[in-house]
Amino acid sequence: MAKEKVLITGGAGYLGSVAAEHLLDEGHTVTCLDNLMYRQPSLLHLAHRGGFEFVYGDARDEEVLKSLVPKHDVILPLAAIVGEGACNARQFEAKSTNTDAVVLINGLRSASQKLIMPMTNSGYGTTTGDILCTEETPLNPISLYGQTKVDAERAILEGDKKGLTLRLATVFGVSPRMRTDLLVNSFVLKAMTDRYLAIFEGNFMRNYVHIRDVARAFDHCIRNFESMEGTYNLGLDEANMSKLDLAKRVAQFVPGTVIREDYEGKDPDKRNYIVSNEKIKRTGFKFEHSLDEGIIELMKAYKILLKLEGTRNN
Ligand SMILES: NC(=O)c1ccc[n+]([C@@H]2O[C@H](COP(=O)([O-])OP(=O)(O)OC[C@H]3O[C@@H](n4cnc5c(N)ncnc54)[C@H](O)[C@@H]3O)[C@@H](O)[C@H]2O)c1
Repeated sequence: MAKEKVLITGGAGYLGSVAAEHLLDEGHTVTCLDNLMYRQPSLLHLAHRGGFEFVYGDARDEEVLKSLVPKHDVILPLAAIVGEGACNARQFEAKSTNTDAVVLINGLRSASQKLIMPMTNSGYGTTTGDILCTEETPLNPISLYGQTKVDAERAILEGDKKGLTLRLATVFGVSPRMRTDLLVNSFVLKAMTDRYLAIFEGNFMRNYVHIRDVARAFDHCIRNFESMEGTYNLGLDEANMSKLDLAKRVAQFVPGTVIREDYEGKDPDKRNYIVSNEKIKRTGFKFEHSLDEGIIELMKAYKILLKLEGTRNN
């Protein structure tokens, strides 16, 4: 298959920096547009790659987008204010980046340019934990973050040009722009530092996916764009599990970890659902990276990061 020219907005982020490397490995050229809002040097390791370019700029800037979008075959709009807390604290930025910039890109591209957007499966909102969410399950976002992503997805899926979205489970694993707020990443860090995990609402069911499978899924969508349609859940079936079971799994790898269920405490993240990942598997996509593999790689990374200052405040 011909190499594609891929533009990743937010390409210096947790997902973007891993996806950029994978897509280069697969033979594509990659341009990352990012404002480096976390002062992250996450793309340094790609500087030597011939097919890689970095553009410093704002993913909401129409002039920047007008110059970049037409030069690419594929656009992955990843730039976002991510998570409920960050979005509530920066509401204008959240809406303008997570929704308006994606709508702008969608308007600027031609019908032949592929648009593939990562969506959060938190769009399914809170449920009883016993419903299997398929792509047909109605969306019910319970946070501003979820709403901004649902609005962007709607603009793509209901627009007159074809676009794909991936409804990602909570991602885990190591990235050059490390995020320690994501549940698996956070549990492993807490287990290693405190040997103690306090679990609120431990029966809540969540779904997880390895960051390298997300990067592989972007490539899968690029290669199979013509035969794919609409939106796809992306999570590991084996990792449709309760928070308590996740904590127990982490504790198996970090001996001495004590788990305490806190029956009084409430988790501000009310997600509670089981997700069906059959649709993407029917397109031939195979998940390659397990939860256990992710826990082991996180432990190795934290052994390094914990020797450096500031990891706990990331
Ligand atoms: N990580 C997950 O579990 C997960 C799950 C579902 C969906 N997503 C989606 O994936 C995308 C990437 O998430 P992430 O986890 O990599 O987060 P991240 O915060 O690491 O990445 C976001 C990137 O966007 C950049 N950015 C933010 N505003 C910008 C702007 N105005 N202009 C240019 N760059 C800007 C940041 O510098 C950062 O590099 C987001 O759209 C997010 O909604 C992530």
